[in-house]
Amino acid sequence: MRHLPTTLIFLCQGITFWSLGVHATQCRLRAPSRVNGDAPPDPLPIVSGTVQPTNISSTTPSPSNAGTSSVESPTPTATTAFKYGNDKIRGVNLGGWLVLEPWITPSLFESTNNDAIVDEYTLGQLLDSKVALEILTKHWETWITEDDFAAINAAGLNHVRIPLGYWSVPMTSDDTKVSTSVEPYIPGAWPYLLRALNWAKKHSIHVILDIHGAPGSQNGYDNSGQRTSGPQWAQSPENVQRTVDTVRFIAANIGGMIDVLELLNEPAGFLGGNFPQVVRQFWLDGYDAVRQAAGAGIKVMIGDAFLGVSSWNGFLTYPRGQGVIMDFHEYQIFSDLELNRSFDEHVNFACTYSDSLSIFEGSNIWTIIGEWSNAVTDCAKWLNGRGVGARWDNTRFPGPGTQYHGSCTNFTGSYTGFSSSYKSFLRKYWEVQVEIGENVQGWVFWTWKAENADEWSYQKGLEGGWIPQDPTNRRFPGICS
Ligand SMILES: *[C@@H]1O[C@H](CO)[C@@H](O)[C@H](O)[C@H]1NC(C)=O
Ligand SMILES: *[C@@H]1O[C@H](CO)[C@@H](O)[C@H](O)[C@H]1NC(C)=O
Ligand SMILES: *[C@@H]1O[C@H](CO)[C@@H](O)[C@H](O)[C@H]1NC(C)=O
Repeated sequence: MRHLPTTLIFLCQGITFWSLGVHATQCRLRAPSRVNGDAPPDPLPIVSGTVQPTNISSTTPSPSNAGTSSVESPTPTATTAFKYGNDKIRGVNLGGWLVLEPWITPSLFESTNNDAIVDEYTLGQLLDSKVALEILTKHWETWITEDDFAAINAAGLNHVRIPLGYWSVPMTSDDTKVSTSVEPYIPGAWPYLLRALNWAKKHSIHVILDIHGAPGSQNGYDNSGQRTSGPQWAQSPENVQRTVDTVRFIAANIGGMIDVLELLNEPAGFLGGNFPQVVRQFWLDGYDAVRQAAGAGIKVMIGDAFLGVSSWNGFLTYPRGQGVIMDFHEYQIFSDLELNRSFDEHVNFACTYSDSLSIFEGSNIWTIIGEWSNAVTDCAKWLNGRGVGARWDNTRFPGPGTQYHGSCTNFTGSYTGFSSSYKSFLRKYWEVQVEIGENVQGWVFWTWKAENADEWSYQKGLEGGWIPQDPTNRRFPGICS
C-alpha cells in the first residue's frame, strides 16, 4: 500500500553564509509521515537548499520551482512495504559520505596538504571556507551516486544507513532555542541527503538516517566529526538540547521520507560520570520528539552506548516505547585481547553474541547489528585516526607492554593482494555475522565503499567474490550450531 503525501509545505528562507560570501536559500520540506509498516511515500521533489556554487545535478530544481509538479524527480516503479519485526534488515552503511572519515577517503585528506586536518571539524577550521566547500562538494557529488543505490538493490539489500552530522541539518532559530551556529563545520550536505532519499525510493531501498555527529562530539572519534580526547556533548545541556531539536527537525521535515531515525550513533557510555544518564534521558527525549513531530510511523533507533544491550533491559519497551530498535555494533579489532583471536576464534566469538542478542530482543525491543565488517585487523590506513598506526603491527602504541600481532601486508588495501585462504575466511566471517544479525532483526554492514581497505568494502567484497550477490546464499549453513 502506498500513501501519497497529501500536503507539501515548502518554507524557504534566505540564509547568508557570511564566511563564504554566498547566499543560500534553505527550503524546508514538510511531508506527512507514513503510518506504521507502510511503504515510503512517492518521491518528493528535491529541495534546493545549498550554497550557490554547489551544482547538485542538471535536473535539480531551482528554489523557484521546488514546490511545483514540473520537477524531474525519479518515479519509482514499486516500493515494497518493509515489515519491521518480520522481514530481515539487510543493509550497508554509506560511511564516509556526509560525514568524512580519514580512513575511508584518505585521498581527500591528503589533498589538503595539511596533516593537522584529521576530521571534518579541522577541515572546516584550517582550510579557507571556499576551498573546504569545493572539496566537500566534489566529494558529496561523487562518493555516492544513484548507481550505488542500483548496485545495493542488485546485491539483494533492502536498507541503507546514512550517517549525517548535525552541522548539515539546516536549522534556524525557529527550530531551537540554543545556538544554530555550526562553526567551524561547513554546511551544505542536506540537499545531497534529500536527493539520496529520492534515489532510495526509486531503487526500493529503505533508509535508516543516523545522526552520526552531535555538537561537542558524543564520543571523540573522528567519525563523530571531531576527533578529541575530551568529547563535550554530554557535558553541556545545550548540546544535548540541540541534538533533541535536531531529531525533531528531521522528523518534522523528512520523517515521511525515511523509515528509521537513529537518534545518535555510538555515544560513549564508557566515559562514565553522568554520561550514561545523559544518554538515557536523551533517548527518552529524542523518542518523544520523533513521536510528537512525525507520529507513529517512523521507527526510532537507539544504541547500547557501548554498555552492552543488557544494560538496557526494560528500557523504552512497550508501551512507553513503540517501534523502537536497538542498534548493536560488532567489531573485534580494537584491543590486543580481540586481535589475539585466531580467525576461527573470531567466528566462534561472533556466535556468542547470538544468544545474548536474541535473549535481549525477546524481552525488550527489536535489535539489529547496525555496524560490523569483515576486518580482523585494524590495519586499514588511518583506521585509528589520520597519522595513527595500527595495534596489529604495533605501530599504534609501540613500546614495552604492547604487542606485535603480525605484518599488515595483504590484510588490507586492494584485494589483489589477498590470499585465497584469507578470502575464504572473509566469506566465512561475513556469513557468521549475517547469521547472528538475522537471528535478530538484521544487519547493516560497515561500509559500502572505502578507497583503499577492501576488507571493509561491501562493494569490493561483491567484486572480489567473498560476498555473495545473493545475501541468502550460504557456504557455511548452521555456522553457529
Ligand atoms: C550545473 O550543471 C549544469 C548541467 O550540467 C551546467 O550547465 C551548469 O553550468 C552547472 N552550473 C554550475 C554553477 O556549475
Ligand atoms: C595475547 O597473546 C599473547 C601471547 O599468547 C599474550 O602474551 C598476551 O598477554 C595476550 N594479550 C592479551 C591482551 O590478552
Ligand atoms: C602480498 O601480495 C602480493 C600480491 O599477491 C604478493 O606479491 C606479495 O608477496 C604478498 N606479500 C606478502 C608479505 O605476503
